[in-house]
Amino acid sequence: MLTVKDLVKHYPLKAGRFSTSADKIHALNGVSFTLGKKQTLGIVGESGCGKSTLAKTILGIQNPDSGSITLEPKETKMQYIFQDPYLSLNPKMQVKDIITEPLLAAKMITKSEIPDEAEHLLELVGLPKDWGSKYPHEFSGGQRQRICIGRAISSRPGIVICDEPVSSLDVSIQSQILNLLLELQDKLEISYIFIAHNIAVVLYMSDTVSVMYAGYIVESAPPQELYANPMHPYTKLLLSVVPEIGKNKRIFEQKITGEVPDLIHMEAGCPFYSRCPVHKEICRKANPQLKPGEKNDHSCACWLYQ
Ligand SMILES: Nc1ncnc2c1ncn2[C@@H]1O[C@H](COP(=O)(O)OP(=O)(O)OP(=O)(O)O)[C@@H](O)[C@H]1O
Ligand code: SF4
Ligand SMILES: [Mg+2]
Repeated sequence: MLTVKDLVKHYPLKAGRFSTSADKIHALNGVSFTLGKKQTLGIVGESGCGKSTLAKTILGIQNPDSGSITLEPKETKMQYIFQDPYLSLNPKMQVKDIITEPLLAAKMITKSEIPDEAEHLLELVGLPKDWGSKYPHEFSGGQRQRICIGRAISSRPGIVICDEPVSSLDVSIQSQILNLLLELQDKLEISYIFIAHNIAVVLYMSDTVSVMYAGYIVESAPPQELYANPMHPYTKLLLSVVPEIGKNKRIFEQKITGEVPDLIHMEAGCPFYSRCPVHKEICRKANPQLKPGEKNDHSCACWLYQ
């Protein structure tokens, strides 16, 4: 349904004491992937690796510097769910108007159809159908995220981009929202791009998981495969710091320290070089490409495997 090819986005920096106007933040450095119908592509990586830039570029909120985004069919609708369900809801609007807004904007319904459609959507996302006249502040965080989900699915999008949809919620509520997303995917045949920094959550949700580092996808595989046979040293680091995954499995024996790379002055070579405990001489000179390993659906960008 979606093919993303060589997407590049560099944010220009204002000239200042430590930078010139030519300096740029290298947020996306050539990201490619495909997304099939009713599939979930999970994107995981630490803060600043370019996840939201990728989401915004695909949604057209940001223009890429280069690369292509192709939808199949071309008229496939895309919607989004963002992290903070409070900030993304207009406090002065009634929930029935919020939840049906995309439908009205696309002229898929008329004003008189709002109440019926809102009831239907509220039910779909597990809220009482007669709550449409309430305002966002009358809802809990989890309920507000349900409203955001209802709004996102209202216009029957083929693809929904979820950017950290549960990270602002209590842990006890998170799984309810994740399961609602899965249930809706099944019912409505939605494809998701599911972004989170928590690899356990991404493994749970996805058909394919792509690990991002410094604006690159450094590893990509189905969740079971990635979990059982992580290849990239950065993926091993991510898996080792999740308590429930790392506890009994000494996936990564060596400690990785160091800072995330400087996205303004990016050096040649592997972006993970400065933090990688197993780097080789070549890693400093040339950046490895993302390539399939022995298994076709498992790709990795690391000189250890090339
Ligand atoms: N509008 C912008 N203008 C300038 N720089 C930006 C802009 N948006 C993001 N950046 C920078 O681009 C890089 C990638 O940011 P992005 O928000 O895509 O990361 P992220 O992976 O979503 O992080 P987080 O997990 O914290 O949400 C960061 O260095 C960020 O500071
Ligand atoms: S290419 Fe080299 S530096 Fe980069 S992750 Fe692999 S071993 Fe480490
Ligand atoms: Mg983000």
